[in-house]
Amino acid sequence: MTSVARTRSSAELIRAEEPVLAHNYHPLPVVVARAEGTWVQDVEGRRYLDMLAGYSALNFGHRHPALIEAAHRQLDRLTLTSRAFHNDRLAEFAERLAALIGLDMVLPMNTGAEAVESAVKVARKWAYDVRGVPADRATIVVAADNFHGRTTTIVSFSTDEVARSGFGPFTPGFRIVPYNDLAAMEAAIDDTTAAVLIEPIQGEAGVIVPDDGYLAGVRELTSRKGCLFIADEIQSGLGRTGRTLAVEHESVMPDVVLLGKALGGGIVPVSAVVARREVLQVLHPGEHGSTFGGNPLAAAVGSAVVDLLETGEFQRRAAELGVVLRGGLQSLVGRGVVGFRARGLWAGVDIDPELGTGRDISERLMREGILVKDTHGSTIRLAPPLTITADELQGALQTLEKVLVQGA
Ligand SMILES: Cc1ncc(COP(=O)(O)O)c(C=O)c1O
Repeated sequence: MTSVARTRSSAELIRAEEPVLAHNYHPLPVVVARAEGTWVQDVEGRRYLDMLAGYSALNFGHRHPALIEAAHRQLDRLTLTSRAFHNDRLAEFAERLAALIGLDMVLPMNTGAEAVESAVKVARKWAYDVRGVPADRATIVVAADNFHGRTTTIVSFSTDEVARSGFGPFTPGFRIVPYNDLAAMEAAIDDTTAAVLIEPIQGEAGVIVPDDGYLAGVRELTSRKGCLFIADEIQSGLGRTGRTLAVEHESVMPDVVLLGKALGGGIVPVSAVVARREVLQVLHPGEHGSTFGGNPLAAAVGSAVVDLLETGEFQRRAAELGVVLRGGLQSLVGRGVVGFRARGLWAGVDIDPELGTGRDISERLMREGILVKDTHGSTIRLAPPLTITADELQGALQTLEKVLVQGA
């Protein structure tokens, strides 16, 4: 990375944001100006290893050459048509994404929350048109401690009071059951149920991995009860856990898979509802849409992302390096770490609260050149780009040990 021509320091830029930016985030005090691969550089030229990867939006690292090239090529040709016209990139993207996932049809959107919103609408429509649920009576069963995004409908079925408080009235039609509890899920499903919507691993909740058999159980239950299984793989999908989808760990195929984040290669927002034909064909012209959804730039980048995933290299790296991550964290249990959950290159690490909050630890790691993000209480999340090397990962684990054990 070359040096950054700068006019304002990090501290000045952070101060400048305060009066003009909504305060809906509390970022770590680092101002990133450049990035390449697993590394980012701040405006003063300090380098940091990115162990968050944009909440998995950067699974392929920053500015992966193949993705940047695909974006450049498309920028030189065509960027936006709206869906009022066809564009010459969308068919290929949809064909290849559906084939990668193993389902039939794609509804392209932009952000993760839009994919979730779209799935809620599609499931309701399917319930009325196909399942025969009486008008306006459809319900969707969701899990406690979920995170599916920030829109008013999505926070309507959140159990996080900070996400909800002050934003009512809420959208009805959701039933919340404990995560990882098939009996509670079964009890909540009835003739009005359009779908069960869950994260195969709950990311924001602290990388909560359900018991073996839970996802297969959800599949069995939803099939037996005649409702849809919607897997929100927006954070867990596209290589992160060592497979293309996290549901593959239990050889499960949902009716609907939601993708986002890494689908845009860290370049553009690209999300998708990928589903069986019987489900997505309930939508007709005018019933749903998005000006930017399926735009040619997004489709070109998304197709390049599918290219990368088709090689299997990133899934393999996540699985192999996941062993290194797990081993390193295991050695810290009882030495600053009270517990952790991990799958592939993704871990939620519970730090001994005596050592500080997750935020304190994140700030200490930042000063040591490692970027992570805290979640609830004393938990930090590790989700590096899947391009990270074994040496880089070992280095990050050593820095974590230094921060926890030596109190750096
Ligand atoms: C599982 C899951 N679903 C949906 C979303 C929302 O995605 P976006 O922030 O792109 O709206 C997120 C974001 O973290 C997520 O983790």
